[in-house]
Amino acid sequence: MFVKNAWYCAGWDYEFTQSKDSLVTRKIANERVVLYRRLDGVLVAFEDRCPHRQAALSLGRKEGDSLRCMYHGMRFGPDGTCNEIPGQSRIPDRACVRAFPVIEKDNWVWVWMGDPVKADPALIPFAVGPSEPEWNIKTSKMHVKTNYRNEIANLSDLSHITWIHENTVGGSRKYTEVSPEFELIPRGMKTRYWVRSCAAPGAARHLFAPDALFDIHFDICHTIPCTWILHYRLFTAGTATEGESNGQLILDTWSSQAVTPRDEDSVDYYFSWGASRATDFPGGSDMLKEAVVIAFQEDAVQLEAQHIRQKEKPDFQQIDIPLDAGPGKMLWVLDRLLRQEATEQISLSQ
Ligand code: FES
Ligand SMILES: [Fe+2]
Repeated sequence: MFVKNAWYCAGWDYEFTQSKDSLVTRKIANERVVLYRRLDGVLVAFEDRCPHRQAALSLGRKEGDSLRCMYHGMRFGPDGTCNEIPGQSRIPDRACVRAFPVIEKDNWVWVWMGDPVKADPALIPFAVGPSEPEWNIKTSKMHVKTNYRNEIANLSDLSHITWIHENTVGGSRKYTEVSPEFELIPRGMKTRYWVRSCAAPGAARHLFAPDALFDIHFDICHTIPCTWILHYRLFTAGTATEGESNGQLILDTWSSQAVTPRDEDSVDYYFSWGASRATDFPGGSDMLKEAVVIAFQEDAVQLEAQHIRQKEKPDFQQIDIPLDAGPGKMLWVLDRLLRQEATEQISLSQ
């Protein structure tokens, strides 16, 4: 089950070009979507399904601002209405394809999968994209064969970086000893915590003396369906207090991550990481990006194996431990939104 009235990330803006064959297909929350750019660059998102006989519009062709189905030749304008049916002059009112609201922000492309009237751009979460001049942000993406609830749970509990990411972005038991400060927000949760006197993350340890210790601050905004924005700062141990940006700041970074469910069995993951221009060093942001790519492959191995087991035994009695607090809160927010939409649906049908 997926929240419908939400912006889902469809990828990085540079994936959507003006080239002749640039029809980009996605599956988002069980819907097939095809995206293309109009001549003025504005993006169009249609259901990838011709209203005539359900042919794939992504096998069609761009004609100016329109998209032609290459089965029987019906052509649709960027608002989804048919503007040509070969062999007939009358175009029925119902001859239109579903068009989804689409917006570009922070170098991400966002598609609204629910009622277009409710598509409020203010619901798109804050992020730090690669075109931010003050930051050296590097991007990537991957496909993971797991249910997106597993991704939400994984991102809500960073204690796992002690174990899964021993050699990349974690690797210290300190991550399991923190007390996160959780703050529920209307469509998600903010999480903040310090990891004190901790060794550098595995991928960066070679840059420092073997006994070097750091205070690391995590400031995370996690929203439904699944966007996870992290402000990650590394300070010399013992120099940083609870206040803002005090202490000896060594590395100031942002990581913006969006997990988009294709269906119940897999997700597309679009993510970035990079340092401020003020604290970056040659190759620094590339190293961060490479570390997070490997880290997410490490997550994928676990989450795919977990998904297989969950499908084998859906009624398996799991046990809970205190580290489940973050995942419990985020999944509660998700379930509350799902229930809310289901209730609205029932009252609309009565
Ligand atoms: S299926 Fe598209 S025009 Fe017939
Ligand atoms: Fe992870």
